[in-house]
Amino acid sequence: MTTLGTPLSPHSTKVMLLGAGELGKEVLIALQRLGVETIAVDRYDHAPGQQVAHHARTIAMSDPAQLQALIEAERPHLVVPEIEAIATPMLEQLEAQGVVRVIPTARAARLTMDREGIRRLAAETLGLPTSPYRFCDSLAELQAAIDAGIGYPCIVKPVMSSSGKGQSKIDGPDDVQKAWDTAMAGGRVSHGRVIVEGFIDFDYEITLLTVRARGGVGAASSNSSEGGQVETHFCDPIGHVQVSGDYVESWQPHPMHPAALEKARQIARAVTDNLGGQGIFGVELFVQGEQVWFSEVSPRPHDTGLVTLCTQHQSEFELHARAILGLPVDTSLRNPGASAVIYGGVEAAGIVFDGIDEALRVPDTDLRLFGKPESFAKRRMGVALARADDVDTARVNAKLAASKVKPRAV
Ligand SMILES: Nc1ncnc2c1ncn2[C@@H]1O[C@H](COP(=O)(O)OP(=O)(O)OP(=O)(O)O)[C@@H](O)[C@H]1O
Ligand SMILES: [Mg+2]
Repeated sequence: MTTLGTPLSPHSTKVMLLGAGELGKEVLIALQRLGVETIAVDRYDHAPGQQVAHHARTIAMSDPAQLQALIEAERPHLVVPEIEAIATPMLEQLEAQGVVRVIPTARAARLTMDREGIRRLAAETLGLPTSPYRFCDSLAELQAAIDAGIGYPCIVKPVMSSSGKGQSKIDGPDDVQKAWDTAMAGGRVSHGRVIVEGFIDFDYEITLLTVRARGGVGAASSNSSEGGQVETHFCDPIGHVQVSGDYVESWQPHPMHPAALEKARQIARAVTDNLGGQGIFGVELFVQGEQVWFSEVSPRPHDTGLVTLCTQHQSEFELHARAILGLPVDTSLRNPGASAVIYGGVEAAGIVFDGIDEALRVPDTDLRLFGKPESFAKRRMGVALARADDVDTARVNAKLAASKVKPRAV
């Protein structure tokens, strides 16, 4: 039985989000609707999620001492990482001491915070198909790895980075130095380690949202753990387009050959079973014909899954909120739809958005403006959503609506 309390009372159910960007904001809204007391933590003030939570806290989440002090002061029932750059060893310590429960598990947060942990788990421990890869600590090691079998074309990424930062494709020997320099400039911490991956010439890529929850509607499979029945549920595949490693457009459902879908689910199940706990995972996969490769996984809502705000009965954020609280979930699709990202375009604080009315005049569309205090040219400031009878119409309308929104410095 799950019991929830009254917020701001002695019997509240308290959830702390570590990271309060646009994805955290939607999770917080879903939790608010269930009467959960919410604490939104970010490294800057007025982050999107802080604007909708009961409590806002600003700390350096990568600093173990600050993180520990905050968790011990607030004593939330659940700690929910929303970003990768967190002092995850401290979360493991606090979880082991029984101070707090981390979603989905502290180990999952640690393994997925850099590319090495999750890639070695998927490829070497679980034997899942991935691109060929090597980890390198210098330009010389990178060149040697390429020469020894990775070959051209290949992709270089800092082990600690997201949204395509520091990532580049190498087509031949002339590009190697530049790719190394790009990775060194774009990594989150400057310890200089990169992964080089053989380039997969996929037909398309998908995010398979996978939910581990206790009970639900139409559960696909089950296995028992942590003293209760945790079942695995799959959303319909989400197709997406990435530009320079950053998502610009997504849609659901993406049609798949049944054999490829079955493989995708097997891979997603293997990796999420291992990571364990409860919550949603965004499993990124490359597909060519009936062949499927694991790319990476987020143990939290996925940016391409913003589309589920207009396609599913329960969005990925509602699914996450329910799963972490031990509530049943329903991953079924309601209607096809698409999302298109709205970038800042300008570098300024406190921008305004023109054309909102025109955007919303596009049939069957909706908008999310995240409320980020500062805009950068390539910062995701909002998203347009469109639902339709078919994905092609939805994609056209989502992009049209997004194009009508004009961010402007004042
Ligand atoms: N080995 C590869 N072969 C072909 N394309 C790749 C490969 N690795 C990455 N890509 C492309 O680059 C995109 C971003 O890569 P990846 O997901 O590893 O980076 P990321 O920085 O974690 O991005 P995000 O945080 O947006 O998920 C992928 O979605 C895919 O389009
Ligand atoms: Mg990715």
